[in-house]
Amino acid sequence: MNATKWKMKKEKKLKLIDNIKELKEEIKHLRGTIGLVPTMGALHAGHRSLIERCVRENDNAIVSVFVNPIQFGVNEDLDKYPRQLNSDCQMCEQCGAKIVFAPKVQEMYSNKKDDLTLICPPYSLVDMLCGKSRPGHFDGVCSVVAKLFNLTKAQRAYFGKKDAQQLFIIKRMVQDLNFDLEIVPCEIVREENNLALSSRNKYLTEQEKILALNISKALFEAVKLYKTNTATKRAIIDNSLKLLEDLDVEYIELVDKTTFELQQEPNDNTLMLIASRTPQTKTRLIDNIEFVK
Ligand code: PAF
Repeated sequence: MNATKWKMKKEKKLKLIDNIKELKEEIKHLRGTIGLVPTMGALHAGHRSLIERCVRENDNAIVSVFVNPIQFGVNEDLDKYPRQLNSDCQMCEQCGAKIVFAPKVQEMYSNKKDDLTLICPPYSLVDMLCGKSRPGHFDGVCSVVAKLFNLTKAQRAYFGKKDAQQLFIIKRMVQDLNFDLEIVPCEIVREENNLALSSRNKYLTEQEKILALNISKALFEAVKLYKTNTATKRAIIDNSLKLLEDLDVEYIELVDKTTFELQQEPNDNTLMLIASRTPQTKTRLIDNIEFVK
């Protein structure tokens, strides 16, 4: 094997780290920029696009795989959330990531949630949409993400636009707490039939997979309606409700994508968001779309 080939092979080698001490040691020896892709594992093509971008734009790409218990409510899917570290690592290695950080819960939290220092985003940003039905969720997200930023010393962190409220809140946290890193928003990756990729799609029955297509359909139709110049918010929501009649709709909302304030009527700044549950497995699915003319 010639030297270049060997070097490439060596560089492909992924390190799987499960503890903070080793992670810190490893990070001390990294040269160049560090990019982070925070995940809860069960990686799919949406994560792949984040990891590939992170590898392209940084000298070192770190992927964290941690099912963060403090962002789950008591009756949520923490226990059944898919865990598949081996195949996750395979994907990370194929993409060219340097490190997968996959700590156990005790490594990240020595105390119960009630007894931890948490980061709580502004009430106005959490008392709406996903935050309304998932109290404490965004405190858990911000707290773990802040820890990961500190631990990895990343200069860039990559987040998918599918979790639009999460992305907005994390950007705000970075601004408010002066974290020295750039948040890189990444486009939603969809199946050919337009279903937004999500680790939770694994829960769906065959029938629910078909019903779930109505979520993206409602969003795409909403954009078409908006483009006619005559559609009101009411008309857009009524059309979506019709399409989503076999799902349990939690919210359909329009927000201003620059402020995340609810909108009375759509405009070129509109982000439309939907959350709904499937009828059999009660899987909670979210998706969103930006309005453009
Ligand atoms: O989006 C997710 O997968 C999680 O909320 C995150 C950002 C990895 C924090 O646990």
